Amino acid sequence: MQKELQKIKEEILTKLKEVKDSEFLSELETKYMGRKGELTTLLRSLSDLGADERKKIGKLANEIKNDIQQAFLDIRKELTAEDKIGFMDVTLPGKKIARGHIHPISLVQDELEDLFMSMGFMILEGPELESDFYNFEALNIPSTHPARDMQDTFYIDKKNKDGDMDLVMRTHTSPVQVRAMQEHGAPLRAVVPGRTFRCEATDVRHEHTFYQFEGLMVDKKINFSHLKGILAEIGKRLYGAETQVRMRPKFYPFVEPGANIEYTCFLCNGQGCNLCKKTGWLEVGGCGLIHPNVLKAGGIDPNEYTGFAFGFGLNRLTMLKYGIEDIRTFNSGDMRFLEQF
Ligand code: FA5
Repeated sequence: MQKELQKIKEEILTKLKEVKDSEFLSELETKYMGRKGELTTLLRSLSDLGADERKKIGKLANEIKNDIQQAFLDIRKELTAEDKIGFMDVTLPGKKIARGHIHPISLVQDELEDLFMSMGFMILEGPELESDFYNFEALNIPSTHPARDMQDTFYIDKKNKDGDMDLVMRTHTSPVQVRAMQEHGAPLRAVVPGRTFRCEATDVRHEHTFYQFEGLMVDKKINFSHLKGILAEIGKRLYGAETQVRMRPKFYPFVEPGANIEYTCFLCNGQGCNLCKKTGWLEVGGCGLIHPNVLKAGGIDPNEYTGFAFGFGLNRLTMLKYGIEDIRTFNSGDMRFLEQF
């Protein structure tokens, strides 16, 4: 019994040395001194001893109990004094609350969404896991067409009842063109920001996961000059009033005619520099007049309606706006990069 009392005393005193706050102190108090506490239980068992032994050990037990109560009191006093000092010292600097930053891609996306909403466009979304039909077939790219090779696709390892793998991570936002036509019909004005995926060997200009910003307008008598007007407006809005747009013929199966989209290089103002490879122009996307087959897939009569569509690489637009040299920084999660915005 004597040994047990000494042992528990040492144990309590050691634990008390670790106390840094009053919560932990209270926990210890309950554990050892509470109604069912370890020391309380031990002291209670004294009554089971014979009269002689109880007399002998009782004195020691009382001393130990008093010592420990005193130790608890001392520490509580110390903690309260510390609290008071902390409370009084109003001159200490406060803790800085870290503020988040809006990702640069979101900044450019927001700016474009504002611009398009002011021109009466809807903002739509589509699924990232897309069917082969919407990603390719409905866009006039049948499975046998070599144009499928233009986009390195992540196919999903799940076969349908005909044994075909018909799910892909969407390679572009263009599938939402057909979804939008089916849902809203004509006339139609919509933009579609979203994440896209390609099985790319990554480098400073190519990512496997990146963002696009799609747009389409379908109405009676829509022609190429409407498309050019909108693209010119976007360039001025993002890069300044001097910015020019250039479109050169490019093949996309879902538009006819098709073109690429280039803006005056923001760095050299079109004079030619290393960034634009001495051309004075930077390519940021593709566009064209919507192919009749795509209008048909969307349930719209191509004899009655025409339309234009464009698709920007949102990462590329953002790189140009902020002079970001390596596309891989967007997905890096590097705070030194993100904190600059
Ligand atoms: C398309 O994706 C077409 N859907 C665009 C389009 C829409 C054309 C509507 C006509 C009508 P393209 O594969 O060229 O086209 O990609 C468009 C833009 O996405 C490119 O100009 C580029 O800015 C960006 N992009 C393409 N691949 C990558 C990649 N791996 N990493 C980063 N950006 C990319």
